[in-house]
Amino acid sequence: MSGRQEVLGAEPDGAGELARRPVDPGPDPAELADEARLRPHRLEDFLGQPQLTEHLHIVLEAARRRGQVVDHLLFAGPPGLGKTTMAGIVAAEMGVGLRITSGPALVRSGDLAAILTDLQPGDVLFIDEIHRLPRPVEEVLYPAMEDFQLDILIGKGPTARSIRLDLPRFTLVGATTRIGLLTGPLRDRFGFLGRLDLYDVDSLAGIVLRAAGILGVAVDTGGARQIATRSRGTPRIGNRLLRRVRDFVEVRAEGAITASLAAEGLELFGVDELGLDKVDRAILDALCVRFSGRPVGLVTLAQCVGEEPDTIEDAYEPFLLQQGLLQRTPRGRVAAPNAYAHLGLDPAAADHPGSAPRLW
Ligand SMILES: Nc1ncnc2c1ncn2[C@@H]1O[C@H](COP(=O)(O)OP(=O)(O)OP(=O)(O)O)[C@@H](O)[C@H]1O
Ligand SMILES: [Mg+2]
Repeated sequence: MSGRQEVLGAEPDGAGELARRPVDPGPDPAELADEARLRPHRLEDFLGQPQLTEHLHIVLEAARRRGQVVDHLLFAGPPGLGKTTMAGIVAAEMGVGLRITSGPALVRSGDLAAILTDLQPGDVLFIDEIHRLPRPVEEVLYPAMEDFQLDILIGKGPTARSIRLDLPRFTLVGATTRIGLLTGPLRDRFGFLGRLDLYDVDSLAGIVLRAAGILGVAVDTGGARQIATRSRGTPRIGNRLLRRVRDFVEVRAEGAITASLAAEGLELFGVDELGLDKVDRAILDALCVRFSGRPVGLVTLAQCVGEEPDTIEDAYEPFLLQQGLLQRTPRGRVAAPNAYAHLGLDPAAADHPGSAPRLW
């Protein structure tokens, strides 16, 4: 295995996240370093997503047996579920180099051409946020993915001519939180689409225990399960909550993290028993109380809670939808009955105190 890994035209994964989610201060550098340590490098260390890992195992093993380069792979799903991790795993499992870039970092078609012409045979080229590739760059990608060829235009005006370069065979791994924004032609050129779903509590508890082992944090199975239950189905959140509970126990208690210490610590940090944080509760409060259960548009909702619409849609909504707390209708977002119950409100009560005036 060559183990080469390069980040091209983009910040390392965690830093990219900071850039694109301005309202979230994000983890500090020490926590980013922790995150790198916690990232599984082999398929067998990737817990949960059993169907996806089984499919991927077959695709990788078949390519290995045939001595071929793996087909292009696309991973889709909400933030923090393991898309970037998967790109690293594919490269490590195949023993090839990994080149990392992202859609917004590839501004001109020349940016992508420079990366493509520098690839070694078999390399994995990872393009994060691939739905944000500018269209001219995307068009360079089509022949590169399909025929491993690159069309370059030399010169301008009537003297311009196009030359075609052969590229080494490579595997493109794309990641997106918005599969719906990918163009049909791009999507169709991937040989495998892996959708990552929110994790169940058992898998998350396993992930928390694994992370605790790597970080040297003492946690019992009850403590790991309590953290998992409040992790919104997301490994990145599970790992982050583990670190917060570790802080809490170091300062306010001692010994291993137990279920009750985890619950106490997480309540203190504003993470409730479902794993909802301040912003989730503000979203539900806006829908139930301020707009009295009427449908609310995404932009209005985002303004109400002081977040970006993209952040609401990518980071908050999937879990609220999955938990049956929020519904999307053609006229806007509405709170589901469970949301009222969770906030301790009565959905039958017409206008809650503090609700916005009716507009019709
Ligand atoms: N299945 C898993 N098993 C163990 N740890 C995992 C798993 N999936 C993700 N993680 C952990 O969660 C963290 C976040 O994963 P990753 O960065 O791959 O998510 P992502 O889907 O790329 O998110 P984003 O959309 O924000 O880029 C990783 O550092 C890794 O430690
Ligand atoms: Mg990522």
